[in-house]
Amino acid sequence: MAQHTAPPHKVNLGPGFWPVAIGLSVFNLIGAYVIATWDVSGFLPEAATPAGDIDFLFKFMAVFGNAIFVYVTGFVVYFSIVWRRRASDAPDAIGIQVHDSPRLEFWWTAIPAILVVILAVLSVKIWANLQQTAGDVLTMESIGHQFKYEFRYPTLKQSVYDDMHIPVDTPITLHVTSADVIHSFWVPEVRLKYDMVPGLVQTLRFTPKKTGAYRIICTEFCGTNHGQMLAAMHIDTPAQFQQWLGKQAQTQNQGNGPVALSGGNAATGQQLFGQKCASCHNAQGGFNATKVGPGLGQLANDPAHPMLVTGEKPDADGISHILIKGYQGADMSSGKNGPSLSVMPNRQANGLSNGDIANLTAYLLSLSHKKS
Ligand code: CUA
Repeated sequence: MAQHTAPPHKVNLGPGFWPVAIGLSVFNLIGAYVIATWDVSGFLPEAATPAGDIDFLFKFMAVFGNAIFVYVTGFVVYFSIVWRRRASDAPDAIGIQVHDSPRLEFWWTAIPAILVVILAVLSVKIWANLQQTAGDVLTMESIGHQFKYEFRYPTLKQSVYDDMHIPVDTPITLHVTSADVIHSFWVPEVRLKYDMVPGLVQTLRFTPKKTGAYRIICTEFCGTNHGQMLAAMHIDTPAQFQQWLGKQAQTQNQGNGPVALSGGNAATGQQLFGQKCASCHNAQGGFNATKVGPGLGQLANDPAHPMLVTGEKPDADGISHILIKGYQGADMSSGKNGPSLSVMPNRQANGLSNGDIANLTAYLLSLSHKKS
């Protein structure tokens, strides 16, 4: 049986359509007002310049998102009640067929298209501002490691780990990358986030405006201790920053004397191992007792691995060299999960003093000698 589907002369929208539409419009306006006047900075401080722009963009999108949510869900609920199937309807009844409403189709295409163009222009404009700030007064680098952040400053010979310091009101250019797996660098109070990707350098630009300490959070799952990969961004006054920088330079110059290994204390080393090494290394079992790195229980007494990964002898000197310099190797193919890049952070990354290195070396040697 042919169906007649001529354009309707009069569309029946259902009883109460216009009052419902007015009610939804009131909801929409209240929502838009709440979003537009919401003080985001009271909830999450704006610690640096792009934060305000990004909040504006977020609110702009949220106002239109709110309208779409209110009208779409509102009318879905309304129509499903008004045009529900009734018990009196014939079993094969079909609803009113509406075809060809060029006016309606024009507007439901044109309005979203215009909105998307406005959003695109606004987003690109803010993004371009982020990329092209006037001056790079302090240019620095951050490198993600399992599971900490490394920071490089132009005036410091060595890296700084865990917490970063920057002076207020100073345009910062921060290049970020990773030494091992994908991490991310996110400071909610600055509203900026970039993934830290091995082999790729990405640039964040911002100008800190509010002194204080803010969280740096890794938001990319990067291994067992991903959840603890947190650091602080300290926004200092220029005087505080210079003081901090001076102190860093001083301790870096002091820490470079030769390490005396003979005075190492294995018991102290064991405690230190728990704090600094145990998230990546087992203290029991041989090389193949892999966690993130190899097991170290038979480091100096393992017939299958007579030499360290560096090719050095597994004695106090060889072990201490890895603790000092760290290690970056091709793969640990005997690991459970197949070949992987093995990266062991150096002494600065692990925050090891000369005494710490002596104690850890003594502890690691004592493990192997117990087994023999
Ligand atoms: Cu680094 Cu998650």
